[in-house]
Amino acid sequence: MALTGATGFLGLRLLDELLRRHRSVTVLARGAPDQVLERLTRGLDRFAAPHTTAGLAARVHVVPVRLTEENLGLTGSAHRELADALDVVWHCAGNTTLDGDPAVLRRVNVEGTRQVLALAGAGRRLPAVFHVSTAFVAGARRTGTVYEDELTDAYGFEGSYERSKYEAERLVHAWARATGRPAVVFRPSVLTTGLPPHPDLPEHPLLNIERALTEIGREHFGPGRGPELLLPGQSRFRLAGRPDGQLNLTPVERAAAVMARLAELPRGEGVQTYHVVHGRDTPVDVLRALVERLAGVPVAIVPELPDPTPHESLTDYVGGVFRYLRQRRRYDDSRVRAALGPPDVPQDIGVEYLMAGLRPPDTGRPPMTRRPPPHLPDPRPEGTHR
Ligand SMILES: NC(=O)c1ccc[n+]([C@@H]2O[C@H](COP(=O)([O-])OP(=O)(O)OC[C@H]3O[C@@H](n4cnc5c(N)ncnc54)[C@H](OP(=O)(O)O)[C@@H]3O)[C@@H](O)[C@H]2O)c1
Repeated sequence: MALTGATGFLGLRLLDELLRRHRSVTVLARGAPDQVLERLTRGLDRFAAPHTTAGLAARVHVVPVRLTEENLGLTGSAHRELADALDVVWHCAGNTTLDGDPAVLRRVNVEGTRQVLALAGAGRRLPAVFHVSTAFVAGARRTGTVYEDELTDAYGFEGSYERSKYEAERLVHAWARATGRPAVVFRPSVLTTGLPPHPDLPEHPLLNIERALTEIGREHFGPGRGPELLLPGQSRFRLAGRPDGQLNLTPVERAAAVMARLAELPRGEGVQTYHVVHGRDTPVDVLRALVERLAGVPVAIVPELPDPTPHESLTDYVGGVFRYLRQRRRYDDSRVRAALGPPDVPQDIGVEYLMAGLRPPDTGRPPMTRRPPPHLPDPRPEGTHR
């Protein structure tokens, strides 16, 4: 069994789930294997059960790959040997920069998927394919119900990340048609955690709200954030959105567990797609209250913002996080419910839970900077991720 993206926010939780179920996992990652293993160990140590992390070196086999290169950057024989050893391939690696350079996103998310599919296609044991997509392949459609069988570009996309993930999913369909092999696509919504940030843990999407506010504050008023977001005489910071909007936010731990359970089901034909979402959408008002807590100033969601202050107008440009305040669509997850039964309704996503995942406990200070992977000077050069 192989997994890409194990060093990431979701991949680390998936690795935990897979190690609970299987004796060993082959991790396909960039960087020196001993350093990758060290990162995985430090990360898992923050939340996984001790029996998962005990003896990790004997259970996790790290194969260094270059995701976007032919044969994953391996020699022909090494590629064949790897492919033939696999019974399952999980593809979770991806670039999650919402407004990233389309060429970079395409290379990592589309070409990376192509290479992972080629690996699965080459294996003599016909490995099962589990592809991690996103509910946001639904694109710029802001209302209505999105079904698991839908995959269209008819609504356009909110940003280059969404488009690249859509194109990657299309590749999975083309691969399944061409090979006659089944594949499973998981579409999680925005993933969250209540686990406080720590340098040994991968960052997560909501940290980008904090980063965006800091960026706005710094841009106009020098370092720092808070009351500086307001001009003299201005009583509240306004964000364009739907006051009655809603977004689907799902705890990452639960999403990984649901995917691992779905992966144990007998495989059907063609591509099976699952919306891995929370049973209840989170009101945009919860996000408004979160921004209010982070910014330390009153915040209002307004349908139109025809006269933005200079710093309010920046919200359109800081990485694309705030545009999602305009959504009110829901995701149908009938397939997941049919397969696993009615969802255990996890906790509602509230401000306290979200704050817990954004602040080290008891400090109230902004989160510590993530320790950069040893092989990369800065793992997040492009700023905003989902
Ligand atoms: N987070 C969410 O809310 C969310 C929601 C829906 C879907 N998803 C999907 O879930 C998957 C994982 O997301 P995540 O939040 O866990 O992202 P993440 O924390 O940014 O992790 C990304 C993973 O992909 C690897 N990666 C990125 N670029 C790479 C490259 N050029 N070559 C090789 N490996 C590369 C990273 O390796 P390094 O550690 O070496 O950088 C890391 O292991 C993605 O496919 C994403 O589209 C995420």
